[in-house]
Amino acid sequence: MRSFQGRDILGLADMERSEIERVLDVSELLAPIARDRRRSDLLADKILVSAFYQPSTRTRLAHETAMVRLGGGVVGFADPKMTRAGDFYEESLKDTVRMLEHYGDVIVMRHPDEGAPAEAARWASVPVINAGDGWGEHPTQVLTDLYTIRRELGHLDGLTVLAVGDWRMRTMHSLSYALTRYDAEIVYVCPDGEEPRTELLDDVRRRGLRIRRAAGVADAIELADVVYMEPVIQADYAKSREERHGGLPETPAPYRVSADVLAAGKPGAIVLHSLPRMDELSPDVDDTRHARYWEEAANGVIVRMALLALVLGAME
Ligand code: CP
Repeated sequence: MRSFQGRDILGLADMERSEIERVLDVSELLAPIARDRRRSDLLADKILVSAFYQPSTRTRLAHETAMVRLGGGVVGFADPKMTRAGDFYEESLKDTVRMLEHYGDVIVMRHPDEGAPAEAARWASVPVINAGDGWGEHPTQVLTDLYTIRRELGHLDGLTVLAVGDWRMRTMHSLSYALTRYDAEIVYVCPDGEEPRTELLDDVRRRGLRIRRAAGVADAIELADVVYMEPVIQADYAKSREERHGGLPETPAPYRVSADVLAAGKPGAIVLHSLPRMDELSPDVDDTRHARYWEEAANGVIVRMALLALVLGAME
């Protein structure tokens, strides 16, 4: 297994199974710090720079909370309009990163352009963590999801994941690549126009993933150990931000999950959603035994603690 120290976390396509398992194991070791609402001094001399060129609630705050829980400091921006990249100068990513690398020891970046964190990593002497790049990847979210599945179901092999929603979405890409490392099947459900890229399907199938399409949730719910959801009605992730103007269409019935829909599935199936949700996930699921998205959001702090400790060399 390669060392994590000094490493960029840009995607899951090149993360080996043993490396994924190491992140999950270190997460389990550090979890009591977050669950007991404590602070440690593991990263007391380190500073995290958050560089968020797109809105975020969970990913930014979970990384920042993780750093604070481990005793480190946090600087950064949550809106590029408050930086020189987002005003008259339109300062380039390269020039910006050449500053940021001296302001902290790790850079966590969200950006509307696919590949922007990878470009930043070319210019940064400190590790860069991809916090979501356009329609590209969202590796820290999916590591959080794997941690949640392993914790809730006890294993990652032998599972059928029903992945519902916009398959252009970065989480779907990272999930597919991660599950190529396990004995797992993905059954995906999405409307026309939101299908996975052909290159993605070809690549993950070549890597051994069983993946096929179903017409609607009702056609595959009885197979699912995990129902993995993203909105169908959502923002364009290639835009820096997108405000809502006027009413929105409703999510069509085949792509919606409710307590009634889950009643036709396995009793032990769990529902994950990286959030925010729209109308694809009914609030009545919150009160069922299937809901795990609040645990998933809480686990986001724990897994980011592990990633920070690993890339900054505090854990091997
Ligand atoms: N899960 C997730 O990426 O949420 P945010 O957009 O709020 O960070």
